[in-house]
Amino acid sequence: MLTIGLVLVALLVIYVTYWVNKWRNPKCTGVLPPGSMGFPLIGESLQLLIPSYSFDLHPFIKKRIQRYGPIFRSNVAGRPIVFSADPELNHYILSQERRSVELWYLDAFSNLFVLEGESRTSGATASIHKYIRSLFLTHFGSERLKGKLLPLIEDLIRTNLRSWSSQATIEVKHCASALVCDFTAKLLFGYDAEKSSFKMSEKFERFAESFAAFPFNIPGTAYHRSIENRKKLTTFLERVLRERKSSAEKSEEDILNQTLDDMEKEEFITDEFIIQILFGGLFAIAESIPITITLLFKFLSAHPSVLEELTNEQEKILKNRKGSDSPSITWDDYKSMTFTIQVINETLRMGNIAPGLLRRTIRDVHYKGYTIPASWTIMLLTSASNLNPELYKDPLEFNPWRWKDLDSQTISKSFTPFGGGTRQCAGADFSRVFISIFLHVLVTKYRWTNIKEGKISRSPMLRIRDDIHIKLFEKD
Ligand code: HEM
Repeated sequence: MLTIGLVLVALLVIYVTYWVNKWRNPKCTGVLPPGSMGFPLIGESLQLLIPSYSFDLHPFIKKRIQRYGPIFRSNVAGRPIVFSADPELNHYILSQERRSVELWYLDAFSNLFVLEGESRTSGATASIHKYIRSLFLTHFGSERLKGKLLPLIEDLIRTNLRSWSSQATIEVKHCASALVCDFTAKLLFGYDAEKSSFKMSEKFERFAESFAAFPFNIPGTAYHRSIENRKKLTTFLERVLRERKSSAEKSEEDILNQTLDDMEKEEFITDEFIIQILFGGLFAIAESIPITITLLFKFLSAHPSVLEELTNEQEKILKNRKGSDSPSITWDDYKSMTFTIQVINETLRMGNIAPGLLRRTIRDVHYKGYTIPASWTIMLLTSASNLNPELYKDPLEFNPWRWKDLDSQTISKSFTPFGGGTRQCAGADFSRVFISIFLHVLVTKYRWTNIKEGKISRSPMLRIRDDIHIKLFEKD
């Protein structure tokens, strides 16, 4: 009996040793980039989720770049992954969409977006991707901005800032989320925030909390709450879809109507597909623009000279407009906001809302003597390029004037806050225009005092941990 027991223990030890060894040394036909695969099953996920509270690179990434160089391997959320802070490799990977890599967000992350039993859009075919891209460009791209959205955005911002100034304090991120989310939901599916009892932006804010959470779907955890919020949002969107389908009135010019019209032409458009489009669209917008606006308040408050130059530029535009026929901001006005765009670029550079872009290899990728095996994840560390002292002197210094001297080659190759290649953000123009108009109205009509400074955290996504509180005053 004892012998059998000892044999079983020995077999177990051999098996565990073999398994741990296999975990630490994954199969590869060439040389893997340096790094560690961490502990079996959890890999190095916990280290990556430890929050840091500065604009600098997340310590997980910074330490490993110092130890291993710009390309290193790890295991996160149960998947082998290569991190790359090498601009050339990143540029190459972005040009390889569907050839050697595909869009891929980790299983835990995808689970937040996908309902049980649905197929994942990350594996969508080229024609589906083309359709989604053109849908967003039609409704949010530069032609729509010039033709229709500019005055709507200006009007929205004027109304909201007026209302902000009548309140004792404003929680910037929270209020910016409501402003941006409600407006976008209207463009997506005709949502009317004033009439609806469903508070869309609050649900999205809670949903977004999961990005700083470990993916344990157990009641009581932030991740579980996120999944619950996703379900509520989806149920609401399903109701909107049902109502629109049964409504005789289909004159709205929103994305929902277009997808319903296209249903007859395109087989892949199902009810679930439409819900994913609406959900994905809201998600793309609901956090990114509000966080950028919040960071702008933070940076402008700390840098009065930047605020002064920004105000001068915007007041000049206002003065010129008084002599023109247009009562509101025109496309030419927007195009003349040189310093404003530099301020936005600098905010996106330092903000690094996402640490990088995720892809999955379809086949082995060979680069500088290393092999990244097929079906591994790659994170292109755009945050590392944005904080690289060789490209940006004193990278943790908020200095919008640096953009005057940067050559276009550096900008196009290494500054990719909106991604690159065929997956470049379809809302980049919309975001820049929206934030520029926000700044125009803000600095020409209002001033503010800080009531609470707020706090950011990275884990590794940037979050507004404690919201910034301000009091907004109308200028005399
Ligand atoms: C500050 C604001 C924003 C930032 C920083 C941002 C960033 C990004 C990035 C980095 C990507 C590429 C993701 C990847 O390659 O894995 C992306 C894709 C995308 N974004 Fe944005 N985004 C912003 C706002 C928006 C807005 C307002 C919209 C919608 C109007 C939008 C719609 C999209 C879409 C549809 C894609 C997918 C494009 C494709 O796959 O062809 N984004 N965004």
